[in-house]
Amino acid sequence: MPSIASPVLDQQSSILVRDPGGRGITCGMSTNATPTLRAGMVGVGMIFDETYRPFFERAHREGVYDRRFGDVSVPLTAMASRTGSRAAKYQAAAGDAIAKFTNFAGEDSVDRMLASGVDFACVATPDNRHFEAARKILQAGCHLLIEKPSVLRLQELDELVAIAREKQVLAKVVYHKLLDPDHKKLRTLVHDNVLSHVNNGYCSLLEPKSISGGQFAEWIVGRNPGTYVAVHYIKLIDFTFGGKLKTITATGQRGLVGPKDGPTWDSNQMRMIYEYNDGREAAFDIHTSWVTPDNFPGYVEQEVQFRFDNGLWNGHSRKRGVECTVEERTPFTLKNSMNNHYNGTFVEPWGERAQRGYGIEVIERFVRELAYVQYGGSADKRSERLAQMQALGYNDLAADRQTVAAVQALEAILERHAAGEPDCVVRVNHPRGGLVLERPGSAEPIVLYDGTV
Ligand SMILES: NC(=O)c1ccc[n+]([C@@H]2O[C@H](COP(=O)([O-])OP(=O)(O)OC[C@H]3O[C@@H](n4cnc5c(N)ncnc54)[C@H](O)[C@@H]3O)[C@@H](O)[C@H]2O)c1
Repeated sequence: MPSIASPVLDQQSSILVRDPGGRGITCGMSTNATPTLRAGMVGVGMIFDETYRPFFERAHREGVYDRRFGDVSVPLTAMASRTGSRAAKYQAAAGDAIAKFTNFAGEDSVDRMLASGVDFACVATPDNRHFEAARKILQAGCHLLIEKPSVLRLQELDELVAIAREKQVLAKVVYHKLLDPDHKKLRTLVHDNVLSHVNNGYCSLLEPKSISGGQFAEWIVGRNPGTYVAVHYIKLIDFTFGGKLKTITATGQRGLVGPKDGPTWDSNQMRMIYEYNDGREAAFDIHTSWVTPDNFPGYVEQEVQFRFDNGLWNGHSRKRGVECTVEERTPFTLKNSMNNHYNGTFVEPWGERAQRGYGIEVIERFVRELAYVQYGGSADKRSERLAQMQALGYNDLAADRQTVAAVQALEAILERHAAGEPDCVVRVNHPRGGLVLERPGSAEPIVLYDGTV
């Protein structure tokens, strides 16, 4: 069971100094400059608009303050994307809500963004395009925050973790569902052994057709909703219950988003088996879809059920929340089932307009961890602070191994399925390798990853 860490506080202030030789980042003591963390953003799509934008706008207005590190400025100084068009529209529309940033577009946009000088960068490109940008960011000695799923292969994860260690920077991933108050309560009950020993469970997340048919149409060929959203639950299960991942199986359906025998999936069902220290096992089924009718009441419908030796946990995104109908608006421009915990726009009781929720909190939390490393005490204790923040398993890339292993297995099983070889099984830490794909009717397995998971 991972522990809930509470960092030791250090009251001194320090300031980040970028090494002019470009060898990375060092910390020096200073009290006469405003502590600043310059941010870069790679990918300017839906998730930027939903979560990063409101965070950066609030940071622009209010800064980020904590008694440990003082008042830190967090300007968004650069954006990198393929065309730059959404960043340009955002800059024009945002007015004073955000400071001027440089909009880099094209194949080398990430390189130019990094050359412009940022202290950390966030990656929110499509799932299969995280790695290249992430590697460049870390190699430049910048801290990294990457959208889920971090990367699709353990080989890539190993490389990123090694660079982050060498450059002494943070490399973290966003799994905002871990900050959902319901999931936090579940984990608290498990952590405190009120709910004891999970036996099995299921999770489902259903997205509307507009996601696969409109929003993601440009990059959807060869992709699946499992990697895109099941990964939230893979991480929830891995982080909440601990244990060792043993086996992954998966299947799915095709024919709506792409041809029935092609590589693009409408819906997926995967199963993971875990083993715990006492030798007992648990099984988890995760069902996902991005072809649910656009007018279904859940819009994004999320459900989990976990069964324990002594209890049962049922969570349902609609049953916990509100249902609202407005003529001619729901469910299209306004959702019937609003998740006001994730990311809601509100008029606060004191009159201010605000956008808040755990989707934004998770990004702010990363920035606070980074501010603590860089400014939360004396320069000679920076490596201690860095180690404390790297030890947080909920978001550190080094703790994402079993989640990436499950994603890599899912991708490989679906790829074999699309190639005419369905029903493969991936075994973890098998005598032949860390991730081994067994094919029905074949004595020769495929080793997906050599090292130990
Ligand atoms: N935290 C969450 O729950 C959540 C929700 C939605 C999406 N996501 C994740 O965020 C990521 C982006 O999703 P989205 O919905 O914003 O996608 P999107 O299609 O709306 O936007 C993708 C952006 O990436 C840019 N891009 C694509 N290839 C690029 C490249 N090679 N270099 C630079 N920029 C590139 C595009 O121009 C676009 O700006 C995905 O990994 C997705 O899984 C997370």
